Amino acid sequence: MRAYPSPRFGGTAKVPGDKSISHRALILGALAVGETRISGLLEGEDVLATARAVEAFGANVERCGDDWLVTGAEWISPAGPIDCGNSGTSARLLMGAAAGFDGLEATFTGDASLSKRPMKRIIDPISRMGARFSESESLPLTLTGAGLGGIDYESPVASAQVKSAILLAGLRSRGPVRIVEPTPSRDHSEVMLLRFGAEVLADEAGNGLAISLGEKRTLSATHIHVPGDPSSAAFLWAAAAMIEGAQVTTPGICMNATRTGFLEALHEMGARVTLDNERDQSGEPVADVTVGHAPLQPLHLTPDRVPATIDELPLLACVASFADGESHFEGIGELKVKESDRLGAVTAGLAANGVSCFPESDALRVLGKGSVRGGGTVMAHGDHRIAMAFLTLGLAAEQPIRVDDSSAIATSFPDFISLMQSLGGRLESGL
Ligand code: S3P
Repeated sequence: MRAYPSPRFGGTAKVPGDKSISHRALILGALAVGETRISGLLEGEDVLATARAVEAFGANVERCGDDWLVTGAEWISPAGPIDCGNSGTSARLLMGAAAGFDGLEATFTGDASLSKRPMKRIIDPISRMGARFSESESLPLTLTGAGLGGIDYESPVASAQVKSAILLAGLRSRGPVRIVEPTPSRDHSEVMLLRFGAEVLADEAGNGLAISLGEKRTLSATHIHVPGDPSSAAFLWAAAAMIEGAQVTTPGICMNATRTGFLEALHEMGARVTLDNERDQSGEPVADVTVGHAPLQPLHLTPDRVPATIDELPLLACVASFADGESHFEGIGELKVKESDRLGAVTAGLAANGVSCFPESDALRVLGKGSVRGGGTVMAHGDHRIAMAFLTLGLAAEQPIRVDDSSAIATSFPDFISLMQSLGGRLESGL
């Protein structure tokens, strides 16, 4: 796929449903008593892997018009392996959710990328609660569920997947369940658990934020309206911020403060950002977001801001190459264990397109010059966000940017190409 300079980029476009919220709606629906209706579910490969998995665990899942219906069940051992594909969220959240079903046995598998990603961060707390795992620190892994005890866990990483796995396991545990994170990660599980009727509490801990489950841990079916994914809208916003004269509006985007780091960074760099029609949707704040071009200033991103920006960091590094001066991203070591080594991939991709950037062990400096030469080929390493970040950069660069393989885009944003084209983005496949 090649992205060509697109000087007339702009307009209004609706991005698909939030990936994190979609996974959670399916999993909580599959654990709840009754039938849950989900409107606006993201139908990307990652979320569909979760849908198939909860069905294999015994829930009933069906598409009904534009909505999805999930009827919860006592989870059973699936007939075959649970294939999580490329999706870390599926693997980690499902292991937590399944862990509390005494005697359930399930083998989790994934593609080559997921099979390399760290699972010890889940195995440690979930086995401390009483579940058993086969002897490995990566997929494939076999989990045996048990009657779980409580846990008071200080997580070494700010990870919503770790936090959510513990909370989901905790739903079926006896005893107190509490988790402290070094920096608060996305809190969609907490928001949605409340929506399903569970009791979730948050309080300040000396070294971070503590999340605990209360006494009420039974879930009752509900209706979840999934808002637009800010991590997908980010590509449209970035194009608008980088292309002179461009402006885009994306209606109905999730504005949860644990997810707005990228938008805040764009605003701080000088892009024009406005929010309209701010409202609540199934407990999540939502707004129509407009972003317009302006000359960009460099950014200094400190480690405390990383969790709210985590999935957009490769894209933010691309935007920083349009700033006038050096941007500095600190505390970004987690990028190395995402769908690819994103620190390595983004450094190589920028360098191939004439941008000077300097990776450090868990930091990156990008020397912005106000414009990008382009003309290079980027290896996406099968990573959806690397492919989309560089195709977006290619719309704003002086020469086309080629991405070796864009097939992974279907995991999170199946309509990315056609949606960018509808806004005037020139994306073409072939040579
Ligand atoms: C996610 C949490 C984050 C994020 C991922 C989705 C989630 O991962 O990068 O894309 O839905 O909980 P970590 O928990 O590993 O930080």
